[in-house]
Amino acid sequence: MKPLPKRSGWCVRKSVAPCLTFGWITTEMALPRPLPTVDDYRHEAKRRLPRMVYDYVEGGAGSERGLDRNRDAFAKYLLSPRRLVNVQQRRQSVAPLGSSWATPFAVAPMGLNGVVRPGGDLALAKAAARMGIPFCLSTASTSTIEEVAAATSGEIWFQLYVVQRKLAEDLVRRAAAAGCTTLVLTVDVAVNGERIRDKRSGFGVPFRYTPRIMWDAATHPVWSLRQVLAGLPELAHFRVAGTGDVEAQAALMGRQMDASFDWEALAALRDAWQGKLLVKGILAPDDASHCEKLGVDGLIISNHGARQIEDVMAPVDALPAIRRACQLPLLLDSGIRHGADVVKAMALGAAGALIGRPLLYGLAARGERGADEILALLRQQIDNTLALIGCPDIGMLDETYIA
Ligand SMILES: Cc1cc2nc3c(=O)[nH]c(=O)nc-3n(C[C@H](O)[C@H](O)[C@H](O)COP(=O)(O)O)c2cc1C
Repeated sequence: MKPLPKRSGWCVRKSVAPCLTFGWITTEMALPRPLPTVDDYRHEAKRRLPRMVYDYVEGGAGSERGLDRNRDAFAKYLLSPRRLVNVQQRRQSVAPLGSSWATPFAVAPMGLNGVVRPGGDLALAKAAARMGIPFCLSTASTSTIEEVAAATSGEIWFQLYVVQRKLAEDLVRRAAAAGCTTLVLTVDVAVNGERIRDKRSGFGVPFRYTPRIMWDAATHPVWSLRQVLAGLPELAHFRVAGTGDVEAQAALMGRQMDASFDWEALAALRDAWQGKLLVKGILAPDDASHCEKLGVDGLIISNHGARQIEDVMAPVDALPAIRRACQLPLLLDSGIRHGADVVKAMALGAAGALIGRPLLYGLAARGERGADEILALLRQQIDNTLALIGCPDIGMLDETYIA
C-alpha cells in the first residue's frame, strides 16, 4: 500500500484534535438536566474525579464487603403498602431535635469536601440551607466553621474528632461562637480504618507529588485546574501556624485520634456543650442507653459508611434493638442511596437520616447544583414512596409498613 503523504497525518490531527477537545469540554462541563438516580451521579463522579479522589470517597475498610452489606441490608426490608388511603396531600417535614426540617435528612459530616470540588463545604452548606435541612461540618473540613457560618443562614452542626483534648476544647468553643446548634461527637474512629484504596493511591492532604498522582491529576485537567485556581485544599481548622498544629494535621489525616476518650470524657463534654449533643457511630443497644443516661440528645446509628470496620452490622439492622433500648431520637446513615431507604429506616424507628456519599457524587458531577439535585432527588423519591405505600404523613410510619 502506498504510504500516506506526511502532511495528511498532520491534517487529521489538526482537524480531529479541536473536535475532540471541544467534545471533551462540552461533556465535561455540561450535564443537560438532573440525572435520574444517585448511581448516575456516581458514574459521573467516577469519570470526572482523579482515581485517587474517587477512591477516597468511594472506598471502604478492608476488602469492602461492608459497602455491599450496607446496601443489601436496605434491600432486605420490603415495604408493606396500604391501599385506598387519601394521599393527595403528603407531608415529609420532621423535627427530630426541635427545629423543623423540610425533609427527613441532614447532610452527613464528611472530611476534605474541597478535594472533590473547591469550596465543597460551602456548596453543601448552601444547598442544605436552600432545602431547609441541617448541614454538618467535619473537623477534617477544608473550610472553617466561621467561613461556613458566614456563607449561609442555614442550621449548622459541627462534628468533633478528638485528636487532642485541648484542640477539641478550642474547636467546641469555636463551634459555639459560630452559632452551631448541634455538636456531633464521632465515636467510631479511635484509630484509622484499614483503607486499602488510599494506601494504594497514596492519597493524603497536602497532596504528595508522586509520578502516579501527577499522572492522575494530569489526566483530569478540569479537576486539576479548579484545584490550582482555588489553591490546594488543606485541613482548614488547623491552618494556624505552629508545630502542634502540624502534628495535629498529620494525626487527623491518619485518623489517629485520642484513643483514651471514654464515657467519662463524654460526660465532661456533655457538661461543657450547652447545645444539642449527638453521638455518631453507635451500633450497640447498651451504648445507646448509656448515652441516654449521660444526657445526650440523640444518636446517629452509623458504621461510618463501612469505612472503619469491614465486618460490622449494617446500621439499619442494628436499629430495631437500639430503638427498644432507648427513647432518644435516632438518626441513621450508611448506605442510603434512595428515598425509599429513608422511609424504611423511619418505619423501623429512625427519626431521620444523614446523607453522605450521594452528595459528593452530586458535587463532583456538577458542583453546588449537583448537591441541590441530589437533595431534590431524594426528597422526590421519599414523596413518591409515601404516596405508593399509602402514607400521607411521614410521622405515621411504623413497623407495620415493613412486610
Ligand atoms: C469521603 C468521606 C469522608 C467522611 N468524613 C467523615 C468525617 O470527617 N467525620 C465523620 O464523622 N464521618 C465522616 N464520614 C462518614 C459520613 O459521615 C457517613 O457516616 C457516611 O458517609 C455514611 O455512609 P454512606 O455515605 O455510604 O451513606 C465520611 C464519609 C465519606 C464518604
